[in-house]
Amino acid sequence: MGIEISSILAAEHEIGNKMARKDQERWNQKWLFVTGQADDPHPLLKRFVDRLTGETALDIACGRGQNGLYLAKNGFQVLGVDISNVALEMAKKSAADQDLEGRIHFKQADLDIWKLPQEVFDVIVVFRFLNRSIFHAIEEGLRSGGWLVYSSRNMGILASEPKANKDYLLKRGELSDEFRSWELIYSHEGDVDSSIVVRKPLSFDSRDQEVSKLIGRRLGFDAGK
Ligand SMILES: C[S@@+](CC[C@H](N)C(=O)[O-])C[C@H]1O[C@@H](n2cnc3c(N)ncnc32)[C@H](O)[C@@H]1O
Repeated sequence: MGIEISSILAAEHEIGNKMARKDQERWNQKWLFVTGQADDPHPLLKRFVDRLTGETALDIACGRGQNGLYLAKNGFQVLGVDISNVALEMAKKSAADQDLEGRIHFKQADLDIWKLPQEVFDVIVVFRFLNRSIFHAIEEGLRSGGWLVYSSRNMGILASEPKANKDYLLKRGELSDEFRSWELIYSHEGDVDSSIVVRKPLSFDSRDQEVSKLIGRRLGFDAGK
């Protein structure tokens, strides 16, 4: 049965409606000066989108929303979250231009504060954003068997940008280490980016369901979705 992103939004998952004003203003200032088309969806997402399963997806720190919109185009019900209302306005306009308004919702929230709903998403994507405090929330927000597609800058960038803030840069192997108990589908440590695709382990309940589906298929009947 399909889950409505709007019902997730309607539920109270925030601790108040506070936001780090400074961060919001800083990012709004950045986005105000960005013009032209949004970037293409991230190549990692394009590469793996056909393998992603489920119905609901979360685009964390979605910016102008190109990755969430791509997931929506590929059949997911999507929630995009970002602190910048300027970026979100651009994302909403793209959703309207692409006739995807029914499939994607956007929420302005500070990911330092926003509490992800638990075990709701089949897919979570994070691109060009690092906030280590959300690793645990990602883990809780994904359903068992859910997919995490993550790519962000790593310490390698310091060679060309020595003043870059290390707090926002991944250490070598950090992502795969953080999610080491999950099923590793793909991992890449590039010169300036680190990427992973991992699947959250199946819970005992869903493992039982998978096994009965498999047995059903072997016996020649459909044991249900
Ligand atoms: C480099 S941009 C990446 C945007 C998008 N994921 C992409 O790949 O194009 C980082 C994004 O993180 C958002 N952001 C920064 N701090 C945030 C916070 N505390 N809560 C929510 N979003 C935040 C910014 O507004 C910005 O849109």
